[in-house]
Amino acid sequence: MTVHESDDITTPAPAKDEYASAKSGDVLVKVEGLHKYFGKLHVLKGVDFEVRRGEVVVLIGPSGSGKSTLLRCLNFLEEPQKGKIRIDNVTVACGTHGKEYTEAIKAMRLKCGMVFQEFNLFPHKSATENVMEAPVLVKGLSKEAGTEKARALLTKVGLADRMDYFPSQISGDQKQRVAIARALAMEPTLMLFDEPTSALDPELIGEVLNVMKALAQEGMTMIVVSHEMGFARDVADRVIFMDDGVFVEQDAPMHLFYHPQHERTRMFLRHILPEKDPRAAAELGITVDDEGTTEIVPEIPIGPGPAGELPLEEPPGGEVV
Ligand SMILES: Nc1ncnc2c1ncn2[C@@H]1O[C@H](COP(=O)(O)OP(=O)(O)OP(=O)(O)O)[C@@H](O)[C@H]1O
Ligand SMILES: [Mg+2]
Repeated sequence: MTVHESDDITTPAPAKDEYASAKSGDVLVKVEGLHKYFGKLHVLKGVDFEVRRGEVVVLIGPSGSGKSTLLRCLNFLEEPQKGKIRIDNVTVACGTHGKEYTEAIKAMRLKCGMVFQEFNLFPHKSATENVMEAPVLVKGLSKEAGTEKARALLTKVGLADRMDYFPSQISGDQKQRVAIARALAMEPTLMLFDEPTSALDPELIGEVLNVMKALAQEGMTMIVVSHEMGFARDVADRVIFMDDGVFVEQDAPMHLFYHPQHERTRMFLRHILPEKDPRAAAELGITVDDEGTTEIVPEIPIGPGPAGELPLEEPPGGEVV
């Protein structure tokens, strides 16, 4: 494996034009100089990035690197102390106060649908009631229209036969699909997913990923924190590797996974990920043998990326350090 030139991670890696042009939509999300502290803990250290309309961005990185915090800052579940966030036509200057700020935050929250690892459904409400709750309460939809909308969305996520079930009566993947339908019911411009499948048994993950894949194909703009590497490889336009509150590297999945430029990215993909999540690593053809040696198994076929691109340069293979 070739060691590439710069391993400097102090400078966040900017998005290259080639990924921006992979999706030709306008810039839907623009984040500039975002800082988030929890007390003295500096969690986001000046994050800058853009997401184009229709783009699917997958965020990976070690535990504690700030992935969830970043998503939560985008819809103001957490308030960043510094920086600027624009989503669509709403801009918030972080660290300010007052009516304008509060109104902008409210508008920003309506732009984002968020799906969490733990589903967060109302246990005493049926699937339909969970989905219709926000459109009726927040958007003032009539109960009839809300029910109709919820039923259409539940059908869309493959739950036509579970509409009247309560969360305790359905499986984990079904709960997560209800949660996705619930987020979609507010007609968000951007969907944020924070490890949507990591609480699920492996055999249930596929159903949720299929719903997400279909959403991506419909053109939904999505930022997904996930270590589902097969999904990232097949669906993402761009994968961002985040560590210690900065974006270390971002690239098209085939490039980032098979030709990472930074030592920290290589370390994560080749060592941390296989140890933490062998199944996810194996999806990229990365395995660890009994002696703890990481191998990229060449015989695992690597499919083309979303734009049909194949790994160029050296094919993955052989032992890596
Ligand atoms: N509400 C909070 N109060 C104090 N510290 C927090 C809070 N939320 C997150 N942190 C800290 O911020 C850092 C980043 O956490 P975050 O949850 O964003 O990481 P992550 O990349 O999502 O990790 P994981 O992969 O484990 O989900 C961690 O050190 C975490 O302990
Ligand atoms: Mg997290």
